[in-house]
Amino acid sequence: MQRTAELEFKSVIDHRGELGVFESMDNIPFAIKRVYYIKGMTREVSRGFHAHKKLCQVIICIQGDCRILCDDGVTRKETLLSSGGKGIYIDSKVWRELYDFSDDCILLVMASEGYDESDYIYSYEKFLLEIQ
Ligand code: TYD
Repeated sequence: MQRTAELEFKSVIDHRGELGVFESMDNIPFAIKRVYYIKGMTREVSRGFHAHKKLCQVIICIQGDCRILCDDGVTRKETLLSSGGKGIYIDSKVWRELYDFSDDCILLVMASEGYDESDYIYSYEKFLLEIQ
């Protein structure tokens, strides 16, 4: 699999609403160890600005929209994440920046590892050194 990949998630929609399913090693390409959500953002704020040494993750926009910039040290690519079932797989050692959040944006994040502050790379210069 590529360092980043756009994923499509089909949901089950009927007159009762919408149901989305995420399953380890099925439509999520790793064993999920941790799930968290991010909400309450506005257009003015941005998040991310880090890479991970080991962790990979899938980010899914379940409501609203935002943009994500992924940078593997060679290629920088911006992707619009919108609630139409689109998500993004991000491998370890990929720098990400999230911004342009709609007020109603809710992101669901599935991660391959538990929370470990020492897995974060918060400096872009250190990230470039790490991938050499
Ligand atoms: P962070 O991963 O930096 O979020 P973002 O990239 O969206 O800006 O996390 C923000 C804060 O939340 C930081 O203080 C660490 C804390 N946090 C946890 O305690 N546990 C977690 O699982 C996550 C993802 C974050």
